[in-house]
Amino acid sequence: MFITLFLLLLKTISGNTSLSANVILIITDDQDVLLNGLKPMSKTVKLLGNKGVIFENAYTNSPICCPSRSTILTGKYLHNTGVVNNSLSGNCSSVLWQKMHEPHSVAPILKKHKEYVTFYSGKYLNQYGHKSAGGTRHVPEGYDWWIGLKGNSIYYNYTLSVNGTAKYFNDEYLTDILVNFLFCFYFLFKAIVNEIWLSLVVLFQKEYSLDFLNQKFITQTPFFMTIATPAPHQPFTPANRHKKSFPGTKVIHTPSFNFSSKGKHWIVGMPPKTLPEDVSELDKFQKLRMQSLLAVDELVESIIYKLETLNLLKSTFLIFTSDNGYHLGQFTQPYDKRQPYETDIKIPLMIRGPKIKKKSIFKRPVSLVDLAPTILEMANIKGTDYQYQMDGKSFLKNIKKFGEPSENDKVFVEYFGETNEREFHEECDFITDPDVSHCTQDAWCKCSDSKNNTFTCVITFLNNKSIKFCKFQDNQNFTEVYDLKTDPYELHNIFENFNKSLRKYYEELLETFKNCKGNQCNF
Ligand SMILES: *[C@@H]1O[C@H](CO)[C@@H](O)[C@H](O)[C@H]1NC(C)=O
Ligand SMILES: *[C@@H]1O[C@H](CO)[C@@H](O)[C@H](O)[C@H]1NC(C)=O
Ligand SMILES: *[C@@H]1O[C@H](CO)[C@@H](O)[C@H](O)[C@H]1NC(C)=O
Ligand SMILES: *[C@@H]1O[C@H](CO)[C@@H](O)[C@H](O)[C@H]1NC(C)=O
Ligand SMILES: *[C@@H]1O[C@H](CO)[C@@H](O)[C@H](O)[C@H]1NC(C)=O
Ligand SMILES: *[C@@H]1O[C@H](CO)[C@@H](O)[C@H](O)[C@H]1NC(C)=O
Ligand SMILES: *[C@@H]1O[C@H](CO)[C@@H](O)[C@H](O)[C@H]1NC(C)=O
Ligand SMILES: *[C@@H]1O[C@H](CO)[C@@H](O)[C@H](O)[C@H]1NC(C)=O
Ligand SMILES: *[C@@H]1O[C@H](CO)[C@@H](O)[C@H](O)[C@H]1NC(C)=O
Ligand SMILES: *[C@@H]1O[C@H](CO)[C@@H](O)[C@H](O)[C@H]1NC(C)=O
Repeated sequence: MFITLFLLLLKTISGNTSLSANVILIITDDQDVLLNGLKPMSKTVKLLGNKGVIFENAYTNSPICCPSRSTILTGKYLHNTGVVNNSLSGNCSSVLWQKMHEPHSVAPILKKHKEYVTFYSGKYLNQYGHKSAGGTRHVPEGYDWWIGLKGNSIYYNYTLSVNGTAKYFNDEYLTDILVNFLFCFYFLFKAIVNEIWLSLVVLFQKEYSLDFLNQKFITQTPFFMTIATPAPHQPFTPANRHKKSFPGTKVIHTPSFNFSSKGKHWIVGMPPKTLPEDVSELDKFQKLRMQSLLAVDELVESIIYKLETLNLLKSTFLIFTSDNGYHLGQFTQPYDKRQPYETDIKIPLMIRGPKIKKKSIFKRPVSLVDLAPTILEMANIKGTDYQYQMDGKSFLKNIKKFGEPSENDKVFVEYFGETNEREFHEECDFITDPDVSHCTQDAWCKCSDSKNNTFTCVITFLNNKSIKFCKFQDNQNFTEVYDLKTDPYELHNIFENFNKSLRKYYEELLETFKNCKGNQCNF
């Protein structure tokens, strides 16, 4: 009887408290899944992936940070967020974005509908903190706790906006700092718990165990937490304690490594046409990337440990993913993302949480646009206007069902090639075309982007096949098509084998996707 009274009282104190799970989203930066990107993450795989679902076919909808992160936050494709690149002029954390999209991103929706306590720490959008877009005083709507990294991923000497106040950090390794803030978050819980406990002690006797109170209160105060690490983004700086790990690591020589073929779009075929013999620079990058991920692995472990001691592990969804993938030497492109190939668009994704089956591999394709609606479903928010405005759809129910990819499964990718706004290839001064970019000396002056490296792709899973169809917006309307089942490394462009009706089918699919909005994107 007392217990019932207790619950009733708690309900009045904390409003409508129908059960909602906590959600923790961990986002890495540029972590591939096809070039051993998960090798340094053994704890994460063991504690998160193997205790839940590992996705075999998870994709980004744009292989570049800011557009992809904007999609994660909103559940909308690039053409609906308007975030086309990493610049302010391309809407990356722009004033327009702040006005039009930030208030409709997942955190404010959770707050509005379920009174979630919300927390963000780490890299947000590349231009976050820019003085012409509110600086670090700008705290995105819907966050109670805001620890946002100013600018792009970096490991030392960075500025964090702590609830809107800029704080400079010099020699504290960023990934580790994110864990420290996590512990602060834990203390926040303790503080609230103690407050309520005191008010209840006045009303009832002390015998009600703190243990019980702890659990009941916390399960009735759902939280949404995002932790976005800089790793393994360039400059790939590992924590000092990890600098000796993975000795002798070499870049992965996939069949597509240093492979130059005719069927690729313009930028890939630009000179130098092959990699040099000595690619120790790329070997070093591979090693540093893996080393920098070790601190992320420790971060995930400490979160899971903390949840366990708080007895929250069973009521918390943990999502681990990355904004996009990465390539190192594939198709003679030294290092970067921004290409439509699997290395760049496939991402790690693992989810554990309430009612999610352990140790399972999920084969059906999903993409980051689906994450926000999935998180809303985890929070038990149904049928709100917001969900219908999102382009993605929740896959929470599907991960309980499994099965092979279905005819309706499709992945859509769009990318806008960047030009060179600022730097003018000091080292590679023979390249004077302003419409190409990211040509650096450590990449042997091979450019990794250009204005006409602008493309859309669709991947279909019809008839037990997996076809990737990509069309470039260049002066050739260049098209690349791959049969991913028979040619997983995308060595053979089969566009020429496609007859008129097949071409028409895929071109129409691309057009439909490019113009879709909300529910229309699910066909
Ligand atoms: C609490 O919210 C849930 C769904 O959010 C709703 O179904 C339920 O009726 C609400 N209960 C009260 C007491 O308001
Ligand atoms: C920036 O975003 C707004 C709103 O989404 C959109 O109208 C505009 O076209 C975008 N700008 C660019 C350059 O795409
Ligand atoms: C941030 O703000 C929240 C309340 O909105 C507060 O509880 C918390 O202590 C603040 N965090 C820091 C690190 O100042
Ligand atoms: C950080 O800045 C300090 C000077 O403020 C400099 O000595 C140090 O080398 C910098 N660290 C890194 C990793 O850039
Ligand atoms: C890449 O291919 C070129 C041409 O075949 C060759 O000279 C070079 O040694 C290769 N580099 C690597 C790292 O395999
Ligand atoms: C980003 O997009 C905007 C709008 O299309 C464009 O003006 C700007 O040059 C782009 N930035 C880069 C680096 O390409
Ligand atoms: C689909 O292809 C896989 C091999 O790629 C095969 O094992 C499976 O039996 C096929 N399924 C159907 C329904 O044909
Ligand atoms: C792509 O753009 C570059 C730079 O402007 C230009 O030289 C090249 O001809 C273009 N290629 C295609 C296929 O459009
Ligand atoms: C490219 O496609 C556009 C419209 O889709 C068409 O107008 C143009 O002629 C095409 N160019 C080439 C070189 O095929
Ligand atoms: C085009 O190719 C597809 C698949 O191979 C086939 O089913 C279709 O009949 C072909 N259409 C024409 C017009 O040849």
